[in-house]
Amino acid sequence: MKLKYFAHSAFQITADNGKIILIDPFLDGNPKSPVKSDDVKADYIILSHAHGDHLGDSFKIAKREKPLFICVNELADYCASKGFKAHNMHIGGGYDFDFGRVKFTIAHHGSQTPDGTYAGEPAGIIISNGKTIYHTGDTGLFYDMKLIGEMNSIDYMLIPIGDNYTMGITDAVKAVEFVNPKTVIPMHYNTFDVISVDPKEFKKKVEEKGINCRIMGFGEEIEL
Ligand code: NI
Ligand code: MN
Repeated sequence: MKLKYFAHSAFQITADNGKIILIDPFLDGNPKSPVKSDDVKADYIILSHAHGDHLGDSFKIAKREKPLFICVNELADYCASKGFKAHNMHIGGGYDFDFGRVKFTIAHHGSQTPDGTYAGEPAGIIISNGKTIYHTGDTGLFYDMKLIGEMNSIDYMLIPIGDNYTMGITDAVKAVEFVNPKTVIPMHYNTFDVISVDPKEFKKKVEEKGINCRIMGFGEEIEL
């Protein structure tokens, strides 16, 4: 499995079977992404929630790539209403796709599409295929992360640190302690002035707790 970071909360997973999964593909409006929507392929698009910086360029990409959307029920219905293929799921549920298993967790946030449509509850995403990735979505700190960490052996936790809309560094460090992943990767920072933080400060604090932190470059891809 390979993981590529497009800045903000946008990632690309290339599964062992070659399938390409985009998570929250916010590219064209994302000043930090070196990759734009015309440049990506997608077999699947998984969305944590419907805010514009997560739904992003999903529909533009989907018109060309015809991916399957994987999201909570209300957001999946919204994607289907625009003419796209969608697999409806919901929080607490998991399903085995050809690239691996996807399970949705709670996230404390909102979820409304850019046109004002209610899109159900926001979610975190656990993707397993040999390695397990937990993309928390946009969320504040919550104590049930401890349970998520107890019930899943998380290899890579992708966590927002930018503050204002989500956890900031202090809360994110506590969230990492709760989940106890093998490696944590910060996200949702420095895209806009309002979420400017120093990821090295996060890395230092989290490594003081004995957890490995990998700051991914914008556009960087790593082998998991
Ligand atoms: Ni959001
Ligand atoms: Mn966001």
